[in-house]
Amino acid sequence: MPNLKKRPENAAPVVLIFDSGVGGLTVFREVASARPDARYVYVADDAGFPYGNQPPDALIKRIVQVIGDAIAAHNPDLIVIACNTASTLALAELRKNFSVPFVGTVPAIKPACARSQTKRIAVLGTRATVSLEYTHALIREFASGCDVILVGSPHLASLAERELSGLPVADAEIAAEIAPCFVDNDGRRTDTVVLACTHYPLLTARFRKLAPWPVEWIDPAPAIARRVADLLHEWKTAAQSAPPQIFFTSGRAPPAPLAAALRSFGFN
Ligand code: DGL
Repeated sequence: MPNLKKRPENAAPVVLIFDSGVGGLTVFREVASARPDARYVYVADDAGFPYGNQPPDALIKRIVQVIGDAIAAHNPDLIVIACNTASTLALAELRKNFSVPFVGTVPAIKPACARSQTKRIAVLGTRATVSLEYTHALIREFASGCDVILVGSPHLASLAERELSGLPVADAEIAAEIAPCFVDNDGRRTDTVVLACTHYPLLTARFRKLAPWPVEWIDPAPAIARRVADLLHEWKTAAQSAPPQIFFTSGRAPPAPLAAALRSFGFN
């Protein structure tokens, strides 16, 4: 991990948060509450959304391009890839191309297996995330003694975008996407579900209501916030926190209900 270079006179670090859409807001809110004095720039590649159903090679190229443009525009000190699909696919390539330190978001398989009592967990992510070697390697390394069900959801990230944009999403649509996580076999039920897409914690209340039985839903955001706080540990600032900024690669202005939701996350 490259070292963080301090800005002059204890100015606040600039932290860039990146996702294909609004899912990274679930990471942003935790990171910002851990380091409220940092300056946050959120970049949503909505022109490329959804990432989860796209061919890997073109997507890696796109992510490197969008992050390169964001670095040129905002000169960040630290970049949080608040997207499991982008992290599992492109983190290595990003680190190869840019000297800014990156924090990625990858499926929380290790803590989920450690917490599971029944030793049956599900990983709920985009189709890309659950099919990538990066995720399979995490399972080989950290899931021994635990049965892992991989569930690639084709629509859940789009449903979360819809919900945050004020468009109602029917219970049945959500229930159908999460149903494969719930396995009851050999007297052992799924008791833990890894939310391996940053959009999904936007729907946690709906998941709890629609689950056929109670499970623990693991959101990676608090762990990412701890990692960022660790990296910025020695960076003391004298600054008042500046309001966060958000940019959409489409250049479109968010519709009124989404703008209202963004205000609730602190964006003007
Ligand atoms: N929020 C993203 C993730 O964590 C992906 C959503 C998408 O673009 O498909 O994987």
